[in-house]
Amino acid sequence: MRHLLSAADLDHQSAVRLLDRAAQLSVVSDRAVKKLPTLRGRTIANLFFEDSTRTRLSFEAAAKRLSADVITFTAKGSSVSKGESLKDTALTLEAMGAEVIVVRHGASGAAYRLAHSDWISASVVNAGDGTHEHPTQALLDAYTIRAHLRDGLGDLTDLRIVIVGDVLHSRVARSNVLLLSTLGATVTLVAPPTLVPVGVSSWPCAVTYDFDEALADADAVMMLRVQAERMSAAYFPSVHEYSRSYGLTDRRARLLSEHAIVLHPGPMNRGMEISADVADSPRSVVVDQVANGVSVRMAVLYEVFGARAEISPEGISHV
Ligand code: CP
Repeated sequence: MRHLLSAADLDHQSAVRLLDRAAQLSVVSDRAVKKLPTLRGRTIANLFFEDSTRTRLSFEAAAKRLSADVITFTAKGSSVSKGESLKDTALTLEAMGAEVIVVRHGASGAAYRLAHSDWISASVVNAGDGTHEHPTQALLDAYTIRAHLRDGLGDLTDLRIVIVGDVLHSRVARSNVLLLSTLGATVTLVAPPTLVPVGVSSWPCAVTYDFDEALADADAVMMLRVQAERMSAAYFPSVHEYSRSYGLTDRRARLLSEHAIVLHPGPMNRGMEISADVADSPRSVVVDQVANGVSVRMAVLYEVFGARAEISPEGISHV
């Protein structure tokens, strides 16, 4: 895997292999010394044009746990304010030795542009491009669902997963629909009509506006953040109205099966798409998602670096 740009880059076999690799590498995070020598001497650049807490820090932790050197760029405080382009910024990072560039950008398609340009020869991992895709988020979500509902083994065949909220602006939703369906799950989107993207009928999922009904037989419910910063119009009458119709309230959580889990990619708008009590309840796996993100990104970096040059088996063969 030279690049990871979309969840559609992964077929069933490669997706399960990545989840298995992440499970193998997860033991490193439980050790006193959280480090393997696997990527010693290799360099990764985090190129973040949009804000991030979880994704940027977990790529950094993942790279460090594999002993890679990490260069981190954030647009704020950089020469982007002087007009420097994506191309020149990427060339600058590659000149500093970056073999893999992890990019987050506000423009849909930015990661693809970087990977398929003749600007750089580095591999590109998409850490979120506009409203398009966020494939490593989908991988960590699939990993978390598999860990809780499948004892960490195999795929997600026949699991019923409901994704709820601001689908229109959500790169997380698009990547999850692609990856979860590849892994055999049945996916249903729930959203107000104003927040359903044009063309959703071609996605491998069902769509409904009835949240209560969708909850009844769900194995996992993934709440999406309402992305106010991407909204240029009024998509719903008020926060109260949104929460009443599409929020995972305490009343709605009681409709779930006993075994059902609740996910959220973060950051959460508590009291809007999810109540504080549900976010902190035993069925919430939000904190697990963050922890699993490090293992999943270790697995992605391992695969991407491995496609560029042979990785020493030192370290990884002992986990
Ligand atoms: N889930 C997610 O992408 O979070 P951050 O924006 O904090 O990276």
